[in-house]
Amino acid sequence: MSAAISLRGVGKHFGSLQVLDGVSFDVGQGEIVALLGTSGCGKSTLLNIIAGLIEPSAGELRIDGKETEGTKDRNALSYMFQEDRLLPWRTARANAEFGLEAAVPSISARERHARAEAVLDLVGLQGFADAHPHQLSGGMRSRVALARSLVTSPRILLMDEPFSKLDPQMRTQMHEELLRIHAMRNMTVLFVTHDVEEAIVLADRVVVLAPRPGRVREIVNVDLPRPRSATEPAVAEAIRQLRLLI
Ligand SMILES: Nc1ncnc2c1ncn2[C@@H]1O[C@H](COP(=O)(O)OP(=O)(O)OP(=O)(O)O)[C@@H](O)[C@H]1O
Ligand SMILES: [Mg+2]
Repeated sequence: MSAAISLRGVGKHFGSLQVLDGVSFDVGQGEIVALLGTSGCGKSTLLNIIAGLIEPSAGELRIDGKETEGTKDRNALSYMFQEDRLLPWRTARANAEFGLEAAVPSISARERHARAEAVLDLVGLQGFADAHPHQLSGGMRSRVALARSLVTSPRILLMDEPFSKLDPQMRTQMHEELLRIHAMRNMTVLFVTHDVEEAIVLADRVVVLAPRPGRVREIVNVDLPRPRSATEPAVAEAIRQLRLLI
């Protein structure tokens, strides 16, 4: 089976600024891969390239084995941005529906409501469909953003530090939610983070980027049973080892 995402020699420059250089790695079907690197090393730029929002300056990108062209061929894919980007004037339900409006314009309003409510239930927001973002806690907003990115049932989910603004306890809860939903839906997940612990807790493999220009320094397998907690010695040791690489 071909990889869900395959990058070969991907480079990107903005004018004279070389941001990414020769980035090559695969994300297998159903795999959770963390993309780990310091601030400014090009993580969001790489996700934007994979999402088709910007064109690479060099290299080749394949989604499900097929070469991509422009912003087409990205139906399998959903993107959870670094900021939650919820629309403040819309309810949680209507925010979740937003993902469907663009992806499946022909869908009926009834079907759209039903799918939005189902996905709000999935992320633990039963009873909050009519709330507006300002009525929700940071953790709940994060759940709405997750619901919006899941509503199209994507096979590939790109996540850009989606939980970085949450307090540690809420973050741990969102990790559990993500792993639960991943197991249910068997999605492929590419998760950007600069947090070593988050990478070890979530990922099957960690792609470590080196900065200026962003390039792959190392790819680390995380061969530990789930759920993983930093309080377990083996997990703590994996975190310590990975910290030495960034
Ligand atoms: N559209 C753009 N035009 C010019 N430079 C850009 C553009 N987008 C990103 N850059 C530059 O590319 C570099 C990488 O940015 P990017 O946002 O990909 O980093 P990042 O790894 O996601 O950082 P962070 O962890 O802080 O989110 C930065 O130096 C940034 O200034
Ligand atoms: Mg970023």
